Amino acid sequence: MNRSAALACITSVLILLAPPCASDNRLVPGKPLSPGATVVSDGGAFALGFFSPSNSTPEKMYLGIWYNDIPRRTVVWVADRETPVTNSSSSAPTLSLTNSSNLILSDADGSVRWSTNITDNAAGVGSTAVLLNTGNLVVRSPNGTTLWQSFEHPSDSFLPGMKMRVMYRTRAGERLVSWKGPDDPSPGSFSFGGDPGTFLQVFVWNGTRPVSRDGPWTGDMVSSQFQANTSDIIYFAIVDNDDERYMTFTVSDGSPHTRYVLTYAGKYHLQSWDNSSSAWAVLGEWPTWDCNRYGYCGPFGYCDNTARAPAVPTCKCLAGFEPASAEEWSSGRFSRGCRRTEAVQCGDRFLAVPGMKSPDKFVLVPNRTLDACAAECSRNCSCVAYAYANLSSSGSKGDMTRCLVWSGELVDTEKEGEGLSSDTIYLRLAGLDLDAGRKTNQEKHRKLIFDGEGSTVQDFELPFVRFEDIALATNNFSETNKIGQGGFGKVYMAMLGGQEVAIKRLSKDSRQGTKEFRNEVILIAKLQHRNLVRLLGCCVEGDEKLLIYEYLPNKGLDATLFDGSRKMKLDWTTRFNIIKGVARGLLYLHQDSRLTIIHRDLKAGNVLLDAEMKPKIADFGMARIFGDNQQDANTQRVVGTYGYMAPEYAMEGIFSTKSDVYSFGVLLLEIVTGIRRSSTSNIMNFPNLIVYSWNMWKEGKSKDLADSSIMDSGLLHEILLCIHVALLCVQESPDDRLLMSSVVFTLENGSSAALLPAPSCPGYFAQRSSEIEQMKDNTQNSVNTFTLTNIEGR
Ligand SMILES: *[C@@H]1O[C@H](CO)[C@@H](O)[C@H](O)[C@H]1NC(C)=O
Ligand SMILES: *[C@@H]1O[C@H](CO)[C@@H](O)[C@H](O)[C@H]1NC(C)=O
Ligand SMILES: *[C@@H]1O[C@H](CO)[C@@H](O)[C@H](O)[C@H]1NC(C)=O
Ligand SMILES: *[C@@H]1O[C@H](CO)[C@@H](O)[C@H](O)[C@H]1NC(C)=O
Ligand SMILES: *[C@@H]1O[C@H](CO)[C@@H](O)[C@H](O)[C@H]1NC(C)=O
Ligand SMILES: *[C@@H]1O[C@H](CO)[C@@H](O)[C@H](O)[C@H]1NC(C)=O
Ligand SMILES: *[C@@H]1O[C@H](CO)[C@@H](O)[C@H](O)[C@H]1NC(C)=O
Ligand SMILES: *[C@@H]1O[C@H](CO)[C@@H](O)[C@H](O)[C@H]1NC(C)=O
Ligand SMILES: *[C@@H]1O[C@H](CO)[C@@H](O)[C@H](O)[C@H]1NC(C)=O
Ligand SMILES: *[C@@H]1O[C@H](CO)[C@@H](O)[C@H](O)[C@H]1NC(C)=O
Ligand SMILES: *[C@@H]1O[C@H](CO)[C@@H](O)[C@H](O)[C@H]1NC(C)=O
Ligand SMILES: *[C@@H]1O[C@H](CO)[C@@H](O)[C@H](O)[C@H]1NC(C)=O
Repeated sequence: MNRSAALACITSVLILLAPPCASDNRLVPGKPLSPGATVVSDGGAFALGFFSPSNSTPEKMYLGIWYNDIPRRTVVWVADRETPVTNSSSSAPTLSLTNSSNLILSDADGSVRWSTNITDNAAGVGSTAVLLNTGNLVVRSPNGTTLWQSFEHPSDSFLPGMKMRVMYRTRAGERLVSWKGPDDPSPGSFSFGGDPGTFLQVFVWNGTRPVSRDGPWTGDMVSSQFQANTSDIIYFAIVDNDDERYMTFTVSDGSPHTRYVLTYAGKYHLQSWDNSSSAWAVLGEWPTWDCNRYGYCGPFGYCDNTARAPAVPTCKCLAGFEPASAEEWSSGRFSRGCRRTEAVQCGDRFLAVPGMKSPDKFVLVPNRTLDACAAECSRNCSCVAYAYANLSSSGSKGDMTRCLVWSGELVDTEKEGEGLSSDTIYLRLAGLDLDAGRKTNQEKHRKLIFDGEGSTVQDFELPFVRFEDIALATNNFSETNKIGQGGFGKVYMAMLGGQEVAIKRLSKDSRQGTKEFRNEVILIAKLQHRNLVRLLGCCVEGDEKLLIYEYLPNKGLDATLFDGSRKMKLDWTTRFNIIKGVARGLLYLHQDSRLTIIHRDLKAGNVLLDAEMKPKIADFGMARIFGDNQQDANTQRVVGTYGYMAPEYAMEGIFSTKSDVYSFGVLLLEIVTGIRRSSTSNIMNFPNLIVYSWNMWKEGKSKDLADSSIMDSGLLHEILLCIHVALLCVQESPDDRLLMSSVVFTLENGSSAALLPAPSCPGYFAQRSSEIEQMKDNTQNSVNTFTLTNIEGR
């Protein structure tokens, strides 16, 4: 019994004289359990006993485990689902623990209806069956070894701490099996579990037919999900070891009961007990829409989940395909799916389609690198698509590659939107032939000359890509290839010259003229630093202006940092590396590039993360170059993002390297706290994150600022150093703020916070209106977005 449970018990005994301690939490040989009595776990969360489902015949009884501390009986485990026992006035069924360590459920007539079937009889006399406070019924030998546990024989509920496994050697594992009806615990037709064929997917089946499917695993180990209604955090993990791969989850302390359950209707629910309404709240349901029922959109169709209310997700055809029957399709019948608009040839190349749940029915090709996987598909003319993942971040010990190839129909595909655990599918497409690719490469070294604008840059070479080739690689800028959008235009993901790239297509009506376009191109092309996003090429044809950047799969920092379910990817070490990377990138802009470049719009959305979570600063569209002796400048039009802006810049239009330093300080506070600068929650009624942080620092409570998901990393001195540096960066007077060179030195060389001066009062610009904030957040929430709308004339 843990200490708080023990205390609760003592208190209740003393004050109420109620006997929750009296109810035993275990069964021993010779003391069987009969109807009417229960075994209650220490802590009181669960009870084991006999029950009769309300509407069935009362003499039909099941042995089950239910929540003991909620008013509505909710059974999470049933022993004799197929063989219920009977109760009568003359004799009753019993559950007993035998001398050979078996739990045996005997009917009224003495016949055995259910047993744990333990064959290792060496355990001998003295075993016990204990109901743990997790809801797990465990048979233990006298020396404490677990001989049997109900968690390894689940019914319809997946509880915190339970494992849903697939064993590599036997391909067996736990399965949830639904009840037959709301009051009928006998096994229904639906089941849930890992796919024993590939170990990569999770299914809900109806008999042997799939009902819904989770896409193939991409190597994520842990995710967390914040439940706003209950303020709980659900931590979900996938663990891979030599013998098995399993999923499990836990719930933050002190939260009410939470479980996954496969309902009798075949839906997989995440439920949480809502104390105030005394009912189970459904926090998640799969399948969620018709559209993501298994195979609903037919072969080569996909469910587009990116549609947002009031639109409902609906079926679409993959790039290069059209509805097999336009008539059926338009009337909402999708089962016949899509057909190719043009037959593919063996020489055709692949279109990269990002953000997808990979289709089912793949072949897993072992031990391939990405290139070898592409070659595998490319050289086999019957291969229509491939997808790749590197599972090394998962801690897997065996083969860490995941090369999937498809040869037949592509079924049960979905567009996930911004989910980080989605795949890029490479789809063989007519018209993407290899010759076009070669031409692209030859064009690469055409020289583009721009006149320098008061800068030292006069001319330079930049890979020039034909508009035609970009149109081809993005399937005519199709929605399937789009990864982001903002006032400036749209961003697409594509394969060009064998490389994944992000293509920014400036909208024709964007206010960025040729001049600003040139500004960005010149700047970025000249800048080369590992913490700045690389410009790989560009295209200017007619009124089309496009920029080609390296593709950064982990998107903007904001997409991970402020997302309850993704922020777990950012442990403190990763966050500290991001902070140091951004600081180095900014230092390079300010002084190491031989120019003085003020970024003017540094924020979480403009820090992109590569595959290894290394940061790269993006978006130089607003950047300004300073002459050698220039200290600061004044502008009529203030551009940037409110909340990150230094007060002197926001109010007077004065900007300098110190206004970037201010933005860096705000970003640093966001990274440490995990709280958006514009957030009004979790800052205890202070007007904003800066004032809140300053007050906590003054009260000596800096360590409470740290995001709860990084606190266990134990590097408190680094966290405190970052908070201190951040406050030195957001001071009211620009002269007091640190230079980026000092910031980098302090962070890199692990200076002691004691050597730093104490920060003075921070400056902040009172937001004009929350509407501006809101609007900006909406348009700038990043997926490789680059804000270019607010460019000023010079
Ligand atoms: C089972 O039968 C016993 C009497 O044998 C009775 O006391 C008890 O209430 C019955 N239990 C249920 C759940 O019907
Ligand atoms: C179980 O063991 C106890 C103690 O050794 C003994 O008294 C009892 O008879 C045994 N029961 C059976 C069914 O063997
Ligand atoms: C125990 O074994 C019997 C006979 O082999 C089998 O019918 C029964 O399903 C088993 N029970 C459990 C709980 O595995
Ligand atoms: C404990 O008992 C089990 C079952 O009898 C046996 O297999 C195991 O070796 C024992 N373990 C120890 C540490 O004695
Ligand atoms: C499950 O399968 C049965 C029998 O094949 C069928 O009647 C029923 O409609 C299916 N239910 C669902 C939800 O797919
Ligand atoms: C749930 O509600 C009951 C009564 O409504 C109350 O006694 C109990 O403390 C509540 N539990 C929690 C965890 O809020
Ligand atoms: C969460 O709270 C909101 C507002 O109180 C309510 O509308 C919604 O139904 C709740 N969701 C769940 C799953 O309880
Ligand atoms: C994986 O492939 C590499 C290179 O082809 C080879 O050297 C290695 O032995 C392979 N490993 C396994 C486990 O097959
Ligand atoms: C997978 O990623 C790790 C770390 O980024 C890298 O070291 C390894 O070479 C990659 N493996 C393959 C097959 O690409
Ligand atoms: C090509 O792919 C098909 C389907 O996956 C497979 O059956 C066949 O063996 C492959 N051919 C070669 C040469 O790899
Ligand atoms: C792309 O657009 C061009 C011009 O509108 C058209 O000729 C071509 O067929 C389109 N290609 C695809 C794959 O839709
Ligand atoms: C950190 O200190 C070392 C040795 O004192 C020095 O060589 C290095 O340049 C310093 N790093 C920075 C970023 O200043």
